[in-house]
Amino acid sequence: MIYTLTPNPAVDRELTVPAMELDSVLRASESRVDFGGKGFNVSRLLKGMEASSTAVGFLAGNAGELLQNGLKSLGIGTDFVWVAGETRTNVSIVTQTHDHYIKVNEKGPLVNFAKQQELLDKIDLLAKRDEWWVLAGSMPPGVADDFYARVVSVLNKHEAYAILDTTGEALRLGCVEKPYLVKPNAEEAQALTGLPVSNTAEIAAAAAELRKMGAQNVVISMGKAGALLQTSEGTWLTHSPKIQEKNPIGAGDSMVGGLVWALDQAVSLKDALGWGVASGAATASLSGTEVGTRPLIEELFGQVSFKKIETV
Ligand SMILES: Nc1ncnc2c1ncn2[C@@H]1O[C@H](COP(=O)(O)OP(=O)(O)OP(=O)(O)O)[C@@H](O)[C@H]1O
Ligand SMILES: [Mg+2]
Repeated sequence: MIYTLTPNPAVDRELTVPAMELDSVLRASESRVDFGGKGFNVSRLLKGMEASSTAVGFLAGNAGELLQNGLKSLGIGTDFVWVAGETRTNVSIVTQTHDHYIKVNEKGPLVNFAKQQELLDKIDLLAKRDEWWVLAGSMPPGVADDFYARVVSVLNKHEAYAILDTTGEALRLGCVEKPYLVKPNAEEAQALTGLPVSNTAEIAAAAAELRKMGAQNVVISMGKAGALLQTSEGTWLTHSPKIQEKNPIGAGDSMVGGLVWALDQAVSLKDALGWGVASGAATASLSGTEVGTRPLIEELFGQVSFKKIETV
């Protein structure tokens, strides 16, 4: 089983209006609801690859029910800790021509210490040797930045594999517990290490710094330029397949989905990176919040190229 942990999910509601106007009632010409959460995006990619996964995290209230039912309707397993209040709803109002938007994000419910412990206990029960866990996104109110570190520590105790995709202090503290893999993008790697990331040598040095912080393996994604993988055995650069970009938001989550899909099939880390890059490219080539599915990802995987690079 592959598990995806989303501590801070949201109902994403998007309303499309003909034109933006303040202090008046606008009529939506279209509206849509998405199940927002970086771990959920990974689960959706896995579904597209015909693999099952279970989404874990904190949910609350009616909005939480909506997310749980939505995930179930997509064929994704769910096993949540329920907290008091309402899961946040994030509202975007966008113009038909996409030249203006307003976005309002709710804070989300406070997750108290007892509920955090309940989730850690759940993970302790679920975690099994050689199974894969993706820990993705930000922390909800009340949850300290060391939460992922605590999760990684529980997973390591069971010899389960942790893949961490988060930013800042949560990423730094998570690295200390030696997760199997971390996947920042270049900007996130720069923010955490304080190192420049303007060329391959610099990105390799930032990856080395993340390994020094404790991560066993590091993938730094670089949008359409591809990604860099660094393990104890070396550093590889992967070029992403050429696509017509429609919406790159969530490409990183799909990349993590492709990576964990391949790793779960016992594919080597280097080849898994190819599946990750192909999955990220597939999602970037699709509009809205659509994610890549197997035929497209297989086709793009055929176009991925690797280069081993020497680092000093
Ligand atoms: N325009 C593109 N063309 C080809 N591949 C792309 C493109 N955009 C993204 N990708 C692929 O997806 C991977 C992840 O993208 P990116 O580095 O933008 O992730 P990210 O910033 O973490 O995204 P997010 O957090 O929004 O999901 C890249 O390494 C690349 O392989
Ligand atoms: Mg990302």
